[in-house]
Amino acid sequence: MTEQSLTLRQPDDWHLHLRDDGVMAAVLPDTCRVFARAIIMPNLTPPVRTAADALAYRARIMAALPQTATFEPLMTCYLTDTADPDEIERGYASGAFVAAKLYPAGATTNSDAGVTDIAHVHGVLERMERLGMPLLVHGEVADPDVDIFDREALFIERVLAPTRRRFPALKIVMEHVSTAEAVAYVKAAESHLAATVTAHHLMVTRNDLLGSGIRPHLFCMPVVKRSSDRQALIAAATSGDSRFFLGTDSAPHPLRDKEAAIGRAGVYTAAAALELYAEVFEEAGALSALEGFASVNGPRFYGLPVNQKTVSLVRRDWHHPETTPLPGGVVHRFRGGETLRWQVSV
Ligand code: NCD
Ligand code: ZN
Repeated sequence: MTEQSLTLRQPDDWHLHLRDDGVMAAVLPDTCRVFARAIIMPNLTPPVRTAADALAYRARIMAALPQTATFEPLMTCYLTDTADPDEIERGYASGAFVAAKLYPAGATTNSDAGVTDIAHVHGVLERMERLGMPLLVHGEVADPDVDIFDREALFIERVLAPTRRRFPALKIVMEHVSTAEAVAYVKAAESHLAATVTAHHLMVTRNDLLGSGIRPHLFCMPVVKRSSDRQALIAAATSGDSRFFLGTDSAPHPLRDKEAAIGRAGVYTAAAALELYAEVFEEAGALSALEGFASVNGPRFYGLPVNQKTVSLVRRDWHHPETTPLPGGVVHRFRGGETLRWQVSV
């Protein structure tokens, strides 16, 4: 019997955390073995705020790439309360930034310098709307009185909907959508709104996170939700709707920081990302929609060309190693130690 295989236009990752220094060098090979480009999240400490910060970070990424890799990092600007519209315009016009990221202050890992009230960045958003520069949002309110399972839905109501009414031509990506409400909101939008979907939000629910012992390696922000939310995400991602595209939110934390009394938020999927998405699409009977989701919808939204190379996946069982080594430790891979059924063929 011949093996089933699938050839796709080379995909991109529209939401990726690389960190810096030795960790970055350790995780980069996992991403650039498959993806041609990635949107690089700016939540370093201190964050990537200026064009100069982004160019310097980009240069460090390029210097850390494996020798044979061809990979293009697409840099983003971390918005703070005092972000300067002129600096952002200069960064965008010069190509240092392709987008800006809104972290509500306190919403997630390294978001302390984020925006405390969206009104503080209205001047920036107005400029971005005029420039056609995408705004990427971590779509959760950070209000400690709001239940963590309700934070995405409330962000839509309190922040996103009013912002879109105020800046109707602003291009916005809701990053790592996690709820049926977010899916419905994106689908109802007439234009200028899209969403990234992670592999882990397509694969696990809060029952997996908490139902049979606490599983710190499944903990991320936004936290994984109920089964009905997961089903809505699968339906959206596999539907062929061009507003949904691949963004892993692969976020490496050393194992000791995850398996701790206060475990940090972030799931590391880069080591098998495309393989995991293929599994989800196959289960949904939608393998033919994978290329649009992984390789076409993202560049279309960002106004960038699609990749010309291809990658192939083969349907054969393989052992996915449990960890990727980091300097002084390891990062646990999502579904690491398990048998996966799709493998990228090289
Ligand atoms: C991300 C990280 O670790 O940087 N963590 C996460 O849980 N997703 C930050 C983010 O994207 O929210
Ligand atoms: Zn992220």
